[in-house]
Amino acid sequence: MSEAPHGAPIKTPGQLIAAVIAGFGIPVAIIILLAVYVNNATRTGAGTDLEASVKERIAPAAQVDIRDANAPRVYKTGEEVFKAVCSACHATGTAGAPKFGDAGAWAPRIGEGYDTLLHNALNGKGAMPARGGTSPDDYSDFEIARAVVYMANNSGGKLAEPAQPAPGAAASAGASAPAAAAPGGASANENAQAAAAVAALASVPQAAPAAGAQSADAAQAGKALYEQVCQACHAAGVLNAPKFGDKAAWAPRLKDSMDTVYNYALHGKGAMPPKGGSNAPDADVKAAVDYMVNAAK
Ligand code: HEC
Ligand code: HEC
Repeated sequence: MSEAPHGAPIKTPGQLIAAVIAGFGIPVAIIILLAVYVNNATRTGAGTDLEASVKERIAPAAQVDIRDANAPRVYKTGEEVFKAVCSACHATGTAGAPKFGDAGAWAPRIGEGYDTLLHNALNGKGAMPARGGTSPDDYSDFEIARAVVYMANNSGGKLAEPAQPAPGAAASAGASAPAAAAPGGASANENAQAAAAVAALASVPQAAPAAGAQSADAAQAGKALYEQVCQACHAAGVLNAPKFGDKAAWAPRLKDSMDTVYNYALHGKGAMPPKGGSNAPDADVKAAVDYMVNAAK
């Protein structure tokens, strides 16, 4: 075909101009009309009560800004920290920890004052590991303090909720605390665990001689020593101790000969202190191992 097709609608320059106007102009006009319509609808909404509406619009943004300035990180509540960390010992009273809700156990401690409680929670006391065995990277001082208050106030106390740190203070605490501990979360945690084991070691011996004294019946002595010493860690699996009665945790260990297992119990292994930190007679420690091993068979 060498000619333009017949019946083409555009035949003159005037028609072409008209077509161009129709092709571009009409959509553009529709877009402009839509934009005006949308914009106008917004303006009508705002225009009805300009001042109130502006306040309304600005207020939430301003609140968010204030909150951001005070809390660069989202702090865990005392309850959350308790459930994640402290409950391991404080829910059941493991290792002699004052039990959650036990007003009798908490009253003398609360009587020492909040500062002492917080100091002991942050730095450890007896079998209580510093910060419950966590690192400052995991939980800030403020969060530990909240957990202290949460536990104390659910156990008969009436302590004031600790004040949230100012952003500057939080930053400097965050900068100095991890440096004082070990750099890096994992090793800080290991340090805390080791500290906890050492603390348990220091606190346990007073309890042990009683078990040694009544070691007439070996099985009886094993159970007694377990209850006085070993369960501090082995009942709940503190510091990853194989849990009492947990077959899966014990099975790989029981592939070793019993002599080896006794040896670990007598001389320590990893976070497991020699004799669990007690000075019980070897025979009683072995009996305690038997008692635990039998429960995991
Ligand atoms: C590994 C077990 C364990 C964990 C985990 C643990 N505690 Fe403790 N806690 C103890 C023991 C044991 C004591 C009793 C220490 C003593 O009086 O010798 C104790 C005592 C305390 C006390 C009382 C201190 C005082 O002045 O008498 C506070 C407060 C406390 N813990 C807070 C916490 C907080 C907060 C957490 C969690 C962040 C936590 N604990 C996690 C074992 C633990
Ligand atoms: C301070 C906490 C703690 C106390 C108290 C404690 N243990 Fe342990 N125990 C551990 C830990 C942690 C392990 C795991 C060690 C590892 O495998 O690195 C362990 C492991 C063991 C094992 C297994 C060793 C193996 O074969 O791998 C035996 C057996 C054992 N403990 C016996 C005892 C006896 C008996 C007592 C009481 C006299 C006791 N433990 C008290 C923390 C403790």
